Amino acid sequence: MRSSVILAGALTATTLLAQNRERGQVAFENRCGKCHGSDGNGGELGPRITFRLTKRTDGQLATLVRTGIPARNMPPTKLGDDEMALLITFLRSIQRLPESKPVERRTILTIEGKKIEGQIVGEGFDDLQLRTDDKRVHLLRRAGNRYREVTSETAWPTYDGGPDGNRYTKLTQINKGNVSRLGPKWMFSIPNGGRMEVTPVVVDGIMYVTVANECYALDAGSGREIWHYIISARGTGSPGSIAAREWRAVASSWTQRMRTSSRSIALMESCCGRPKSRMRG
Ligand code: HEC
Repeated sequence: MRSSVILAGALTATTLLAQNRERGQVAFENRCGKCHGSDGNGGELGPRITFRLTKRTDGQLATLVRTGIPARNMPPTKLGDDEMALLITFLRSIQRLPESKPVERRTILTIEGKKIEGQIVGEGFDDLQLRTDDKRVHLLRRAGNRYREVTSETAWPTYDGGPDGNRYTKLTQINKGNVSRLGPKWMFSIPNGGRMEVTPVVVDGIMYVTVANECYALDAGSGREIWHYIISARGTGSPGSIAAREWRAVASSWTQRMRTSSRSIALMESCCGRPKSRMRG
C-alpha cells in the first residue's frame, strides 16, 4: 500500500515537471525562439545556447534574461518570477555539456627525418596540428608520407605589428604589382562574432583572434582551429558588463599571450588556451 502511495506521489511530481517544462517551452518560443531557435540550437539572430547554460546558476540566468546583452543584440526581457521559473525549467531541459573530444596521439616523421610524437589537435587533408608533451604546437603539412613543419616567416606579435608599433610588415611577397590578384586561401567563421574590431596576432605560425570574451588560436596557414577559449562571466553582475567589450587583440611575450579588454586581462598558455592567471580591473 505504502509503495503505491509513493509511486503516485512520484508520478504527480513528474507530470508537474513535464507540464512546467511545456509551459516554459511556450515562454521560450514566444520570447527567445525567434533569435535562438525554438530548441535553443541557434537561429539567424542569436547563437546556439544549449552549451552555454550549464555555466550559469538559475539566478544568473534570470539576471541575464532581465538585463539582456544590449550591446551584442540580445534585448532585456521583462518576466515575472513565475514565468521566469518556468522558462528556467525549460532551459535546464535543453542544456548540454560541451562534448569532449577523445585524445588521439600520433607519431610522424618530418622530411628531415625527425620524429614528432604528440596529441592531435587538428587534422585536415594535408595539414596536421600536433601538441607535443613539452606543450608546443607543431604545424605540419603532408609531404608524401612525411611531414613538413611550418611556422611564420615574419611574426605580427602585437596589435600594432611589433614593438615599434608602425603596423608595417617586412614581408615582401605581396607588393603593388600583385596585390590586385589576391584571393582568399581559407575562411574561418566565428560564431556570434557580431561586430568585430580586431587585429589578428601571429606568432610561430599560430594566429590569435579575439571576440568579446573569446579567443581562437588558428593555424595561420590552413585556418584550422587549434583551440578556442571562452571566458565565463562570473558572479551575478550584469553579463553584458564583460561581454559587451570589444577585444581588440591578444598581446604576446615569449610563449605567453595576454588577452585584454578594458576590464580584464588574462594570461594564457599558447599551447592549450588555458588561462594561467586573470586580473580584473
Ligand atoms: C533579438 C534576439 C534575441 C532574443 C529575443 C534573445 N536573445 Fe539571447 N542572445 C542573443 C544574442 C545575439 C546573443 C549572443 C551575445 C554574444 O555575442 O555573446 C545571446 C546570448 C544568449 C545567451 C548566452 C550568454 C552567454 O553566456 O554567453 C543565453 C543563455 C541567452 N542568450 C538566452 C536567452 C533567453 C533565455 C532569451 C529569452 C528570454 C533570449 N536569450 C532572447 C539574442 C537574443
